[in-house]
Amino acid sequence: MKNILEVKNLTTSFNTNKNKIKAVDGVSFNLKEGKVLGIVGESGCGKSMTAMSIMGLIESQNGNIDNGEIMFNEKNLLSLNLNELDKIRGNEIAMIFQEPMIALNPVLKIKDQIGEVIKVHKNIVSEENNKKVLEFLNLVGIKRAEEVLNSYPHQLSGGMCQRVMIAMALICIPKLLIADEPTTALDVTVQAQVLELINNIKNKFNMAVLFITHDLGVICEVADEVMVMYAGKIVEKAKVEDIFDSPKHPYTIGLINSRPENFKRGEIPKCIKGKVPKLTELPEGCSFYERCDFRMDICQNERPKLNFVGIEHEVSCFKYNLKSDGEE
Ligand SMILES: Nc1ncnc2c1ncn2[C@@H]1O[C@H](COP(=O)(O)OP(=O)(O)OP(=O)(O)O)[C@@H](O)[C@H]1O
Ligand SMILES: [Mg+2]
Repeated sequence: MKNILEVKNLTTSFNTNKNKIKAVDGVSFNLKEGKVLGIVGESGCGKSMTAMSIMGLIESQNGNIDNGEIMFNEKNLLSLNLNELDKIRGNEIAMIFQEPMIALNPVLKIKDQIGEVIKVHKNIVSEENNKKVLEFLNLVGIKRAEEVLNSYPHQLSGGMCQRVMIAMALICIPKLLIADEPTTALDVTVQAQVLELINNIKNKFNMAVLFITHDLGVICEVADEVMVMYAGKIVEKAKVEDIFDSPKHPYTIGLINSRPENFKRGEIPKCIKGKVPKLTELPEGCSFYERCDFRMDICQNERPKLNFVGIEHEVSCFKYNLKSDGEE
């Protein structure tokens, strides 16, 4: 199976008052056609900025891509001009954002905002345009789709808006769908429906999905492969079954142990102690050092790098290898 996306050594930074921070620091991964890669990690670890870098939306956030390559369908997105990128965005690559109310335009009727996407990318207009929008509203399970067609976003519920946004992302049948916390704002039943929907559609169109969430339960259901991020870096990457059955990085182990479904009534939750370090105050050695139950002396002074510990299983931790960042 072909890689639809190959990200190599992606480094994305922001200038803050005092210093430059690396929100994404040397991130590399591949995603195959029709597969789902999950990205997990606590708030601020660089999940969204990885997605925004792929979408070419970093400059709109006042950030900068300092280094790396983003090969999509054998084209480096970072070397395209805006015109070339606009042909791909919303068409071959589409993104579902966490907050549908922010992503949807409040003054446009649903038919006009979804319709605009196929007008621009596929030159589908008038009657045909309306028909296509209706088809996709039905596809994402919206009942009374004709009515929704003529509604404004504020007239719809949160779950409905999320479905509208998914319809808008899918209408050009992208090769790559980026879903950034697509279910976080939804209640549990709607969440399950949206997950099922993304799964069905992915299978129907053989779409690759980059699925971002802090919820390991969701990852377990949807992903083929998982990438765990911490302070801008990948700390572990493996097939989903290996992440859950044999997690290696102390951070991954901590995340898995702190899943709510592991707790019994009356028990004190086993959370990861401490908190994510500020990107402006990263330690010299491993970023997880302060919180790690397995730390060794070397971890304080040197940064571990990703190494294979099994087939398609990579971990960045000195527990599994004693080579540092600079060594080959
Ligand atoms: N516009 C910005 N200016 C400065 N720093 C930023 C900006 N956007 C993001 N960052 C920093 O980049 C880091 C990574 O942010 P990112 O949004 O990727 O986190 P995340 O993993 O998606 O977190 P969450 O789970 O909360 O969505 C954060 O530490 C954040 O402070
Ligand atoms: Mg985010």
